[in-house]
Amino acid sequence: MEALKGIRILDMTHVQAGPTCSQLLAWMGADVIKFEPPQGDATRGQLRDVPGADSLYFTMLNCNKRSITVNMKSAEGKSVFVDLLQKCDIMMENFGPGVLERLGFTWDKIHEINPRIIVGSIKGFGSSGPYADFKAYENVAQAMGGSMSTTGVPNGPPFVTGAQIGDSGTGLHLAVGLLAALNHVHRTGIGQYVEVAMMDGVMNLCRVKFRDHQRLTRGPLPEFSVPTYQGMGETPRAGNDSGGGQLGNAIHCKPHGANDWLYVVVQEAVWEALANRIGPEVGVPDLARDPQVATIAERRRNQQLVWTLLSKFAAKYTKRELMAILNPLDVPCGPIMSTEDLANDEHVKGRDMYVELDHPQRGKWFNVGMPIKLSASPAKIERSPLLGEHTDDVLTNVLGYDAAKVEALKAAGAFSAPPKK
Ligand SMILES: CC(C)(COP(=O)(O)OP(=O)(O)OC[C@H]1O[C@@H](n2cnc3c(N)ncnc32)[C@H](O)[C@@H]1OP(=O)(O)O)[C@@H](O)C(=O)NCCC(=O)NCCS
Repeated sequence: MEALKGIRILDMTHVQAGPTCSQLLAWMGADVIKFEPPQGDATRGQLRDVPGADSLYFTMLNCNKRSITVNMKSAEGKSVFVDLLQKCDIMMENFGPGVLERLGFTWDKIHEINPRIIVGSIKGFGSSGPYADFKAYENVAQAMGGSMSTTGVPNGPPFVTGAQIGDSGTGLHLAVGLLAALNHVHRTGIGQYVEVAMMDGVMNLCRVKFRDHQRLTRGPLPEFSVPTYQGMGETPRAGNDSGGGQLGNAIHCKPHGANDWLYVVVQEAVWEALANRIGPEVGVPDLARDPQVATIAERRRNQQLVWTLLSKFAAKYTKRELMAILNPLDVPCGPIMSTEDLANDEHVKGRDMYVELDHPQRGKWFNVGMPIKLSASPAKIERSPLLGEHTDDVLTNVLGYDAAKVEALKAAGAFSAPPKK
């Protein structure tokens, strides 16, 4: 049975940060009702690859949900919203600052309507502090949460990371908060307001960078390949340094294309075996005991030499061949996998992490699968809903409206955009 069976979510989220969260909860079995403005979540039409079809931006973030369109700027639409608040366990949103309040629904008001309901809210910067009024997108959060200043090479510009830590990362944080609040409501009968700011979520994911920030007050960071010194102030960008207690780097392999790299961790425990394997082929037969790299302190100091020798060795092998050489030596390593590599990878397929789905407008397409595997409640992934596909279904079967009421609401414009003046 689905783990969250019986939990109903009124999902007002849009774009990426919120929908990531509600999709995960839907994959765990919650009944997620995507509550959209009459024109739909803006991402339905963004970056379209098939004319007239919901974009992959939308379909990949909104699986296993029902869709209802409601015009919240009409009195009738608001009355449908209030009725749904009474039938749901969670309401979630990631509107810009003040949007819900402008619509007339503060947390206090929602709590009064349904004291059990949990409200999940994502904002760029939360509801307090000098940044509270600002909107935010992924890269703004990466910029302001410490990720960009610590990503990239030392003398180059700051870089965003491809993983959507500002949006999807915040969605994950919200999911944790909502599950905790569900446990709380089961014990107390009282719902609560769960807020995650994208900037806070990114900072949480940059925790180790603040470890290094504080270490810099005591001395240099010996594991960094770039120069650091006591009192430096800010954690520098350090390319592909491992950033942990073990040395690591990306090593370019044959045929030296964009993704022909293997990330290799020169774990202390494997140094001797690794050095004995590569040393003879790169002209340093006794590499393991070479005074420049024999101890971890020396390897840190002279890590450029380690990377140069490993790269020299790697020049004769592809990333997969190098991996096959290093695996038996227990060297932690992994090829840099392109999206093409991953889309065709047997391991990925076997773990249902790239799944084929059908869609009435676009035909076959793929979604990234559910990364959280529950033994008794495996996720069953189903396509995203068309805009308003379930409006009648929800009005009838969740709210219990009769046909006459539905028609009257429709005629009053509760589910459609007002005609253009
Ligand atoms: C993402 C973001 C920048 C988009 O900004 P935006 O497109 O201007 O959208 P907003 O959320 O500010 O506003 C939505 C508008 O749609 C309206 N709307 C939303 N649902 C509606 C409905 N069902 N019926 C009628 N109107 C609706 C709102 O009332 C609001 O109108 P208003 O500005 O007149 O008050 C902004 O929502 C934001 O900062 N969100 C928080 C952080 C976040 O999640 N970022 C995105 C990560 S992917």
